[in-house]
Amino acid sequence: MRIGILGSGLMGGKLGTLFARAGHDVVFSYAHRREKLKRLAQDAGGHARAGTPREAAQDADALLLAVHWSRMDDVLSEAGDLSGRVIVSCSLPMDAGNTGLVIGQTSSGAEELAKKAPKARVVCAFNTVPSEVFLGVYEARRKANRPSLVYCGDEAASKEVAAGLIRDVGFEPVDAGPLRIARYTEPLGLLMGQLAYEGEGGPELAYRFERFGA
Ligand SMILES: NC(=O)c1ccc[n+]([C@@H]2O[C@H](COP(=O)([O-])OP(=O)(O)OC[C@H]3O[C@@H](n4cnc5c(N)ncnc54)[C@H](OP(=O)(O)O)[C@@H]3O)[C@@H](O)[C@H]2O)c1
Repeated sequence: MRIGILGSGLMGGKLGTLFARAGHDVVFSYAHRREKLKRLAQDAGGHARAGTPREAAQDADALLLAVHWSRMDDVLSEAGDLSGRVIVSCSLPMDAGNTGLVIGQTSSGAEELAKKAPKARVVCAFNTVPSEVFLGVYEARRKANRPSLVYCGDEAASKEVAAGLIRDVGFEPVDAGPLRIARYTEPLGLLMGQLAYEGEGGPELAYRFERFGA
């Protein structure tokens, strides 16, 4: 697939690199300096290049949206027309100091994004995992007992695209339901981040979902 990365920081840089290594065509976009995007593309190997958000969005089969909540409007306006595009968003609706969610309970960042880009097809994924784990999970790419990763969205075809990307980086996709379920997965992402970065002595963190009943 052709994948545009909107926001090439910790999440976008790592996931874009792994998407390229998994064989996708990747365009890294949206960083303060173009040199950083070029370096990411060079280091990713495979079919990766640097571009503008508009170039990343053009003809993309999927876009990974990985910017701070405060940059959302800016990156969407730079990307231009997103009609019909699958946007896989890992962005959490965090406040300026990254201390809490600015949206919760009655809505979610993913639902607000869907309102901002009403013609795009939004899936919420990858935000329940701290970026530090992606490389290790990708390199292990276990056959059995893969770590699970939840995703949610309102449309089957775009969710299938997201599930494929989740598989490509070594996780087992777990369909959490419609986009409004992001009201639960986004706080989970914050919890995972707090455990990973703020826990006493930096605890090792693992979690797994099991399905019970029929
Ligand atoms: N990091 C995690 O473990 C994690 C986990 C779950 C969810 N998330 C969510 O994922 C999203 C991305 O997080 P992140 O940690 O990847 O953030 P990040 O490392 O700060 O990446 C943000 C990207 O946006 C770019 N950017 C910011 N302001 C810009 C501007 N004015 N002009 C052009 N580019 C600009 C940055 O450029 P530079 O590279 O030049 O700074 C960077 O490439 C956030 O919503 C976060 O809450 C993160």
